[in-house]
Amino acid sequence: METKQYVAAHLESWLRDELFPLLRIPSISAQPEHAPDMYACARKWCELLLAAGADTAELLETTANPVVFAAKQVDPDAPTVLVYAHYDVMPVEPLDLWHTDPFEPVIRDGRLWVRGADDDKGQSFLQVKGFETALRNGWLHCNVKFLFEGGEEIGSPGLAEFCAGHREMLKADIILVSDNSMIGRDVPSITTGLRGLAYWEIEVTGPERDLHSGIFGGAVANPVNVLCKLIADITDADGHITIPHFYDDVEEVSAAERAMLAQVPHDDKAYAESLGVKALCGEKGYSTLERTAIRPTFDVCGIWGGYTAEGSKTVLPSKATAKVSCRLVPHQQHEKISRLFIDYIHAVAPDCVSVKVTPMHGGEGYVCPIDMPAYRIAERAYEKAFGKRPLAVRRGGSIPVIADFEKILGIKSLLMGFGLESNAIHSPNENQQLDIMEKGIVAVAEFYREFGKR
Ligand code: BES
Ligand code: ZN
Repeated sequence: METKQYVAAHLESWLRDELFPLLRIPSISAQPEHAPDMYACARKWCELLLAAGADTAELLETTANPVVFAAKQVDPDAPTVLVYAHYDVMPVEPLDLWHTDPFEPVIRDGRLWVRGADDDKGQSFLQVKGFETALRNGWLHCNVKFLFEGGEEIGSPGLAEFCAGHREMLKADIILVSDNSMIGRDVPSITTGLRGLAYWEIEVTGPERDLHSGIFGGAVANPVNVLCKLIADITDADGHITIPHFYDDVEEVSAAERAMLAQVPHDDKAYAESLGVKALCGEKGYSTLERTAIRPTFDVCGIWGGYTAEGSKTVLPSKATAKVSCRLVPHQQHEKISRLFIDYIHAVAPDCVSVKVTPMHGGEGYVCPIDMPAYRIAERAYEKAFGKRPLAVRRGGSIPVIADFEKILGIKSLLMGFGLESNAIHSPNENQQLDIMEKGIVAVAEFYREFGKR
């Protein structure tokens, strides 16, 4: 049967009977009370992988959440694909902004609405179904292994150590990853680069207790004011990061690659409107696609301190805290950036407060070569599924373990993600367009049709 017909004939029952039960499990890695859900979700994946045709599927302990490992061997001499994905999801707060229950899948307007619809349950599901399609139709010519982790959204704790301890088990020729996105529904693309990340918590402490801001204000430093100034000074008026030596290792992307990026269809006005912002804003001298893919950034992810409840309270708070992060580009090492950041904050912080900077997690960026055979096979597979040759573009998100895979296992990853920016990953009302999911399954199945064929 043609791949497209096979997928179309099965999609509805695949969703209802297999994906939906998986989506209903609130596997939120950031919230410790969901620990039992992590196990439930991992066990569900074992079931689904066996049903899809894996010979074995098991849950393996790590120092953090368990990983799911499954394998299908067709021929010991054939090449091997390792599929990496994550079964954990981001927290769902703020709840009142969801139009429907975040953990009850709903199909509306051709889309699936639920936490994990894209990131990463929907995308891992399409990998598994692409594999199953190839297997059932008799055109799987390679061995396939699956490694699904439960902590990607919190920095993959324990996974690098797990890889170092299971080199033989994870041996493969290429890693397939769908945990990323395309340029647009009519602009299929393969992700050729990811950014790295470094993440810290900064705590500024002033007086030993909250003070009356009339009695003491003016004489005692206010930790919230100090923290805001520290943060504001990290970027200058041109959007450059002011931390000394921050840009030392930044890869200057070639003129040819910048020219290629400039060819990618993109409309700043429509982009701004789709996000509900009045105008765009970013580092001087770079386009939006460059700012979000090939340039490093600094962002505050959360900040709190002082009185935030209803009404007003005149107070000089004792403490202020922020969670902040930098997206990094290839060659910038997160540990080095972390040291630069911590030294910088301590150097500029005024003596009248104490400042504590705690590194939380980090990881390196990644670049995927487009001249490797697996990339070319993927390109042809996209062409069959989408009717268009996919563009090769770097994207701004991070999957830090991809660089670890290269370092520890010596295997390159191919980033075949089918997410769209409008899918609202990490946000309320996460969704996935079902026709794109269907094409994604076809593309993965077509990849297997060629990969390893003699
Ligand atoms: N799926 C994303 C990463 C992504 C999204 C890559 C879109 C490319 C395009 C992934 O699940 C994610 O969100 N990763 C975190 C990593 C962090 C917690 C270490 C991120 O990028 O914030
Ligand atoms: Zn994510």
